[in-house]
Amino acid sequence: MAHIQDYKQIMIISSDDNKNVESSNQLEAKETDFDKTFECSIRPKTFSDYIGQTELKETLSISIESAKKREQSIDHMLFYGPPGLGKTTLAGVIANEMGVNIKITSAPALERPRDIIGILMSLKAGEILFIDEIHRLNKVAEEILYPAMEDFFIDMMTGKSQATKNLRIPVPKFTLIGATTKAGSLSGPLRDRFGIIHRLEFYTIKELMDVLSRTSKLLDIKIDKDGLNAIARRSRGTPRIANRLIKRVRDYALVRYNSDINGQIANEALDLLKIDNVGLNPTDRNLLKLIIEKYDGGPVGIETIAAALCEDVKTIEDVCEPYLLQAGLILRTPRGRKVSPEGYRLLGITPPIMQGNLFE
Ligand SMILES: Nc1ncnc2c1ncn2[C@@H]1O[C@H](COP(=O)(O)OP(=O)(O)OP(=O)(O)O)[C@@H](O)[C@H]1O
Ligand SMILES: [Mg+2]
Repeated sequence: MAHIQDYKQIMIISSDDNKNVESSNQLEAKETDFDKTFECSIRPKTFSDYIGQTELKETLSISIESAKKREQSIDHMLFYGPPGLGKTTLAGVIANEMGVNIKITSAPALERPRDIIGILMSLKAGEILFIDEIHRLNKVAEEILYPAMEDFFIDMMTGKSQATKNLRIPVPKFTLIGATTKAGSLSGPLRDRFGIIHRLEFYTIKELMDVLSRTSKLLDIKIDKDGLNAIARRSRGTPRIANRLIKRVRDYALVRYNSDINGQIANEALDLLKIDNVGLNPTDRNLLKLIIEKYDGGPVGIETIAAALCEDVKTIEDVCEPYLLQAGLILRTPRGRKVSPEGYRLLGITPPIMQGNLFE
């Protein structure tokens, strides 16, 4: 613990490791079982409720309008981006705007051929099939999906040995919406069969304030503008995290002050959760500090970073990195990760002055 004492001014140090765990969970954008139930109640249903992602919404509105005019189903779509940015929500909004049903499943639930065949055969014309974590689809399921996506039929073998027959069964014209946090892990042939492919972006502070303002009304939480701003700043550009934090801050305001939320109360509550004012938790800060102090700012491989922090590579890749990269605090290079000049400054350390083109 001693090595992080130097940063006391800019980082609230935990005296209790369990609290660290709790605070990292608050900032982990991955969906928990609790999120599943809670999020259903606050998910936007229409484009007007769906905040941000402006360009994406515009493109999609045009595709929807056109499909409606042509009285045809909309092209297959793939949404990718870090957890909690609104991929599942968007699929629901599209179904609602199209006025069609949506069937929701996820790749790990489609293990056996009959799982995917069953769901495809249960679809009605125009309906949307949403497959979450689509990069985890196995080869057999993918092979079944290809002709269904392209030509709307499935090939099935019936009978045994000599009497084997190939049956071609039509499926109704449906729209597949796939979502993934790992676009790079998707097989090329599957990716090529999506007509519309979009990346979801992290949200700005202003957009997160709008998300929080909407949530506060739905949950009947009283909060002023400074309160919204304080929570938005620490939400790592992610609506799921913002929605989680506002509830923790509401609890704090109620218990400690018996009051509505204002900027000061929100900051105090978030300090207590060990979330700093740019949304970094102790693990993120330790990661930056490690690269600077032990590896001269990098580059250093992800496995080395994970081992040194006693975290697994997936947590570093999926939880810490996307936001640190987006915030420009670390840089990805072919030889590993480097801390950017902003990353140095955030820790109160003067960045090395472009020695040997360090940051080029
Ligand atoms: N654009 C938005 N406007 C308002 N709220 C949003 C928006 N996007 C997401 N949210 C809120 O954030 C929560 C998380 O969104 P969602 O479940 O769609 O994320 P996701 O990208 O599917 O995450 P995962 O990768 O974990 O599946 C939703 O419950 C919703 O309330
Ligand atoms: Mg989702």
